[in-house]
Amino acid sequence: MVNFNVNGKIALVTGGTRGLGLHCAEALVENGAKTVIITSRKAKACEEAKVQLEELAKKKGNNQCEIISIPADLADEKQCEELFKKINEKIDKLDILVANAGATWGAPLEDHSVSAVKKVLNLNVAAVYHSIQLSVPLLEKAATKEDPSRIIIMSSIISVLSNDSVGTYGYLASKAAVSHLGRNLAVQFAPRHINVNSILPGFFPTKMANGLIEVAGDMMRETNPRGRLGEKEDLQAALIFLCSKQANYINAVELPVDGGAKNNSPASHF
Ligand SMILES: NC(=O)c1ccc[n+]([C@@H]2O[C@H](COP(=O)([O-])OP(=O)(O)OC[C@H]3O[C@@H](n4cnc5c(N)ncnc54)[C@H](OP(=O)(O)O)[C@@H]3O)[C@@H](O)[C@H]2O)c1
Repeated sequence: MVNFNVNGKIALVTGGTRGLGLHCAEALVENGAKTVIITSRKAKACEEAKVQLEELAKKKGNNQCEIISIPADLADEKQCEELFKKINEKIDKLDILVANAGATWGAPLEDHSVSAVKKVLNLNVAAVYHSIQLSVPLLEKAATKEDPSRIIIMSSIISVLSNDSVGTYGYLASKAAVSHLGRNLAVQFAPRHINVNSILPGFFPTKMANGLIEVAGDMMRETNPRGRLGEKEDLQAALIFLCSKQANYINAVELPVDGGAKNNSPASHF
C-alpha cells in the first residue's frame, strides 16, 4: 500500500486564501502538515482562510496543525521582503513552498497596454522568483538527501500551448516563463536537495477563471477529453503526490492536471 502524505511538514502557500491556493492549503492540512502558512494581499481574506483551515484541521483530526496567515502584496518587493522577515520569525525551516499567487489580464492587442503586461509579468514571474529566492535558505534547512524540500510552481497548461482567444498576452508569456524557471532551478537546486516541479492546471472554477468559464464553459467541458472542468481533488492529489516522500526522485517535472485538454486544443485557452 502506498500512503502519500506530508506528515509533519511545514509549508507556505502564496495566494493561499482562495481558489487553487486554498485548495492546496486544505490538502496540506488534511494530509498531515504541521504548519501551513498562507499569504495574500487582503488581511481579511487571510484571516477568514486561516479560520477555515483551522476548522478543517480539527475536523480531520490534525489537531497539532498550526495555521499562520500573513498579508502581503508579493508584487511589491519591499512587502515580499517584509513577509519573509515575519516568516523567519515564526519558523526555522520550510519543507514546501507552493508559489501559486498569480493574476491575469485579457484584452485585444490594440487595447492591451504594456503596463498591463508588465503588471502580470511582475506578479506571475518576478514575484515567484523573489518568493523562491527568499525561501531557499529555509528550504535548505529542511532538505535531506532522502526527502528533499519541494518547490511547486503553479504554472498553467497554457505554458505549453499558443492558442489565445482572449488576448492574455502577458499571462501566457508569464506561465511559459515560470515553467522554464522551474526547469532551470530544478537542475540548480538538486545538489542542494530541493526539488522543483510545476503543476499545469487546465480550467478550474475560481475567481480568476470564472469570467471565462461563464462565457465558454460549455465548450471547455465538451472539448475536454474527460468531459469536465478541473475539480479541487484533482489538484490536491497532484500536489500531495509531488510533495510526498515517495516522489523524492520526481524533479523538473511539469505535471498537467487538465484531463488531457492540451491534446484537444479548443479547450486549452487558459
Ligand atoms: N483557475 C484556473 O483555471 C487556473 C488555471 C491554470 C493556472 N492557474 C494559476 O493558479 C494560480 C491561482 O489562480 P486562481 O485561479 O486560484 O486565482 P484566484 O482565485 O484569483 O486566486 C489568486 C490568489 O492570489 C492572491 N493574490 C493575487 N495577487 C496577489 C499579490 N499581488 N500578492 C499576493 N497575493 C496575491 C489572491 O488574494 P488577494 O486578492 O487577497 O491578494 C488569491 O489568494 C495562479 O497562478 C493562476 O495563474 C489557474
